[in-house]
Amino acid sequence: MLLARPGRFFIRSVACSTRALSSRASAVLSALDIPTTPVELDGVYDGTWKGSGDFIESICPATGEILARVKTASPQELHHAIDRTREAYLAIRTMPAPRRGEIIRQIREALFAKREQLGALVSLEMGKIRTEGVGEVQEFVDICDYAVGLSRMMNGRVVASERPGHSILEVPNPLGVVAVLSAFNFPVAVYGWNLSVSLAAGNATLWKPSPTTPLCSIAVTKIISSVLEKNGLPGAVAGLVTGGKDVGEAVVQSKDVDMVSFTGSEHVGRIVGKAVQARFGKALLELGGNNAAIIMPDADLPLAVPAVFFGAVGTAGQRCTSTRRLYLHSSIAPDFISRLQKLYASVAPGDPLDSATLLGPVHTAAALRIHEEAIEDAKASGGEVLTGGTPFAASDLSSHLRGGFFARPTIVRPGTSSVQHPAWSTERFAPVLRVAEFSDLSEAIAWNNGVPQGLSSSLWTRDMRNVGKWIGAEGSDAGIVNVNVGTSGAEIGAAFGGNKSTGWGRESGGDAWKQYCRWSACTINFSDAAPLAQGVSFPA
Ligand code: UN1
Repeated sequence: MLLARPGRFFIRSVACSTRALSSRASAVLSALDIPTTPVELDGVYDGTWKGSGDFIESICPATGEILARVKTASPQELHHAIDRTREAYLAIRTMPAPRRGEIIRQIREALFAKREQLGALVSLEMGKIRTEGVGEVQEFVDICDYAVGLSRMMNGRVVASERPGHSILEVPNPLGVVAVLSAFNFPVAVYGWNLSVSLAAGNATLWKPSPTTPLCSIAVTKIISSVLEKNGLPGAVAGLVTGGKDVGEAVVQSKDVDMVSFTGSEHVGRIVGKAVQARFGKALLELGGNNAAIIMPDADLPLAVPAVFFGAVGTAGQRCTSTRRLYLHSSIAPDFISRLQKLYASVAPGDPLDSATLLGPVHTAAALRIHEEAIEDAKASGGEVLTGGTPFAASDLSSHLRGGFFARPTIVRPGTSSVQHPAWSTERFAPVLRVAEFSDLSEAIAWNNGVPQGLSSSLWTRDMRNVGKWIGAEGSDAGIVNVNVGTSGAEIGAAFGGNKSTGWGRESGGDAWKQYCRWSACTINFSDAAPLAQGVSFPA
C-alpha cells in the first residue's frame, strides 16, 4: 500500500522490521518529517517519489542501529529519471539566470530554516560531530549565497577581432544534465556545491549520493523539491537516484548525462573518468587527498598544534582535506609532538549528537579496518606508534555506543621518509597521522609533492621568504596551498579541488562555474565584406 501525507515521505510498507527506532534517532528523524516507525522509504525522486529497486540500509555509525531501509532506483526508474532530468533542463535553460538565482535564494532560505535539524541528521547518519554537521549545512547555505550572486555574474567576453566590422564573443550557455555522485563524508555540502552552481548555470541536476547516506539526500531533496514545486518548476530540476554500484555505473555511462561530477576514491575515480571520457562526456573529479602540514622552526606553535589536531582528528580523519602527513622541522619536532600528544590524550569518543563530543565514529565497520591498515603500514615500514594505535575498549564507550565504529586517533612515525612507501603514499580515510622530521623547506616541499595526490597542503611559518617559495613555482603542487591555516575546512569562495591523482577538478567557488556551461566562440560580422582570418585570400 502506498501512503502519502502532505509534506512527508511516501511510505511503501510498515512491516520491514519489528524493532522500534531509538528515541535518540527518532528525535532527529521526526524533526525532518522522516517516518520513525520502521518503514521503507522511497529513494528516487524525479518529480514524484518512488523506488522499486534493491534496498539499501542506513546505519547509524555511532550505535550500529538501522535507521531506515531505502528503496533504490530500478534500471527502468533510473532511465526514466534521466529522461525527466533532461526534460527539466529543457524547461529551465531559457529561464533568465537571475530568476534561477531567485530559486536558489529560496532554497538557501529553506535549508537555513532546517540547518540545525539537517546538521543533526548528518551527525546521526554520517557520524561527524554536531558542529561539523551543522557546519556542513552552512556550507550549502554559503554556496547558495554565492550562486545567487553568480546568477547575475556569469559573464562571457568580447574579444577583439583582427577583421574590420567583426566582433568575437565568448558565450556561456547551459550545459544540460549534470549528475552529481557524492561521497559519504560530506553527504550534504558537496551536493550543494554542485547543485547551486549547476542550477545558476541553467542545468538540471541528478544526484546519486553515497549508498550509506541516503537519508541525508532524501531530506535535502525534500526541502529543495518543495521550493521547486512552489515556483511551478519540475521536480527533476533537482532529482535523486539512490542506489549502489549498478545505479552509479548506469548514470556514468549514460549518453544523456552531459557532465558527471564525482567525489570519491582514486580507484573509483579512475573508472568513472575513463567511462565518461569513452563517450566524450565531461567529468569533474574530486578524488583522494593525502594532505601534508609542514611546520617551520618559526611557526606559532599555539596556533599550529590545534590546527594540526583538528586537521587530523576532526571528522574522525574522514575529510578529503584531513591532515594525513605532518612534516616537522627537527628543531621543534619533540616539542610539537609532545603538545600534540597532550591534545590526543584529551579527546574521548562520544555520541556525535552530543554537542560536547569532539570525536565521533568512523563511518562504517570497513573504515575501522582501513584505520588498522594505516597503522600496520607504518609498523611494516619499521615505524613506531607515538600515540594511540590500539582499538577502544568497550569501557571507553557509553553503553549505547558499543555497537558503533570508533577508531582511536593515532600518530605514527613510519620507519622511512620515502614518499613512495605505502606508509606515506596512500590515502587512508581514518584518523591516522604520519610524522617525519625535515631539515630544510626544500626537502619538506619535495616530500609534500612526492605523493600521487595533490589536494591540500599547509605551511606554518612567519617568514615571508618561506611563504613566497611555498605558493610559487617551486612550492606546493596541491590545489589548496595554505599558510598558517590547516589543510581542512576550506571556505566556499575559492574553487575547491586538487591536482594529479586528486583528479584536477574544481568545484564550489572561483571559476568552477565555467565547467557547468557550454561555451561558444561566436564571431559576428557586422560589415559589408566577408574577409577571411589570417589574411587568407580565396577569390571566388
Ligand atoms: C571533502 O572532504 O570532500 O575543506 C570536502 C573542507 C570542506 C570540504 C571537504 N570545506 O574540509
